Amino acid sequence: MSYNLDSIAPHGGQLVNRIATPEQKQVFLSKADFLPRVQLDQRAVSDLQMIAIGGFSPLTGFMNQEDYNRVVTEMRLANGTVWSIPVTLSVNEKVAAPLTEGSLIRLDNPGGQYIGVLELTQKYHYDKTREAIHVYRTNDSNHPGVKVLYNQGSVHLAGDVWLLEREPHPLFPKYQVDPVESRQLFQEMGWKTVVGFQTRNPIHRAHEYIQKCALEIVDGLFLHPLVGATKEDDIPADVRMRCYEILMEKYYPHNRVLLAINPSAMRYAGPREAIFHALIRKNYGCTHFIVGRDHAGVGNYYGTYDAQHIFDEFKPEELGIVPMMFEHAFYCTRTEQMATSKTSPSLPEERIHLSGTKVREMLRRGELPPPQFSRPEVAAELARAMQIPVHTYDI
Ligand code: ADX
Repeated sequence: MSYNLDSIAPHGGQLVNRIATPEQKQVFLSKADFLPRVQLDQRAVSDLQMIAIGGFSPLTGFMNQEDYNRVVTEMRLANGTVWSIPVTLSVNEKVAAPLTEGSLIRLDNPGGQYIGVLELTQKYHYDKTREAIHVYRTNDSNHPGVKVLYNQGSVHLAGDVWLLEREPHPLFPKYQVDPVESRQLFQEMGWKTVVGFQTRNPIHRAHEYIQKCALEIVDGLFLHPLVGATKEDDIPADVRMRCYEILMEKYYPHNRVLLAINPSAMRYAGPREAIFHALIRKNYGCTHFIVGRDHAGVGNYYGTYDAQHIFDEFKPEELGIVPMMFEHAFYCTRTEQMATSKTSPSLPEERIHLSGTKVREMLRRGELPPPQFSRPEVAAELARAMQIPVHTYDI
């Protein structure tokens, strides 16, 4: 497989664009008061946007039953293309009942604003437990992804969508770089190979270490924090983005690193979501994708490297993006640097293990993460955001 960016095709071959043209928008607006309405939750809004901008290529809408069933059981769309996470629009029976297949549906955001249109081709029921067991590998309703699944409506609405307007992100307009633009920017930077990095946590030293190890191998690093819906106790996206901005200022070379937001919602589906995350970054134009320890995992639902092993289930050309796998990274007090068990012979007591979960726990206890854990500027920002007095050490 060639790693050259010129040949990195979007997943399925073509970058999808489902943003209404000005003419289509006019037509849709003129029908605003006559169309049946469905109100989207935050995740569905993210999904609509991702479909529209091509981040979910080759999807052009919410999945029909054939695609859904095959994705759940085999990690493939009905036509065989690899796809690991259902992208569905679920509503309750009462909302679904009056909607007729073949009609246009007006899609509103949670604030009641008209943002998109669905051409309803199919309504179908689905088995939540089956989806939980296949996709999340558990039917435990304490799992945050399973909890969302169990609480959502029991009918799926399927069909192609249009987003009425691609509006700037209300919090991060500067970092809203859609796949068409990221592909263009990578070319302008002269990057032939680009590694994508997914994250939902404030950046810590292990993140920085694996990002920079990867960047030693490829031309560019695409830092792509997820800013869609996350579980409640995750650090808010604006705080995480500020941490990234701080690091970009002092610790990252601008000609090698691009920071942009990923509007998707988090599923916490571990291995399945690692494939999903990789395919999304392929659509943004990345040739490589970082998969570290317990990628997209939560609690103890997945083995440390399950999200890496799942890549073996596919042929490299079916994925079309190269995973860069990293072992659990830690700060090594013997060698006084970041390391993994591949690169350091240290004893367990010489290893300071870090994770986003630990950072969150320390902050909640009112403690600042030490410099081996987080860059001091990032620790200070987290402390400020969480209103913890900074007295542990000087910056
Ligand atoms: S995730 O849910 O988005 O995966 P997080 O933001 O913590 O969570 O992780 C981002 C990426 O960094 C993932 O690929 C994850 O596997 C990796 N990662 C996080 N911590 C470590 C670590 N200590 N060692 C190696 N990889 C790590």
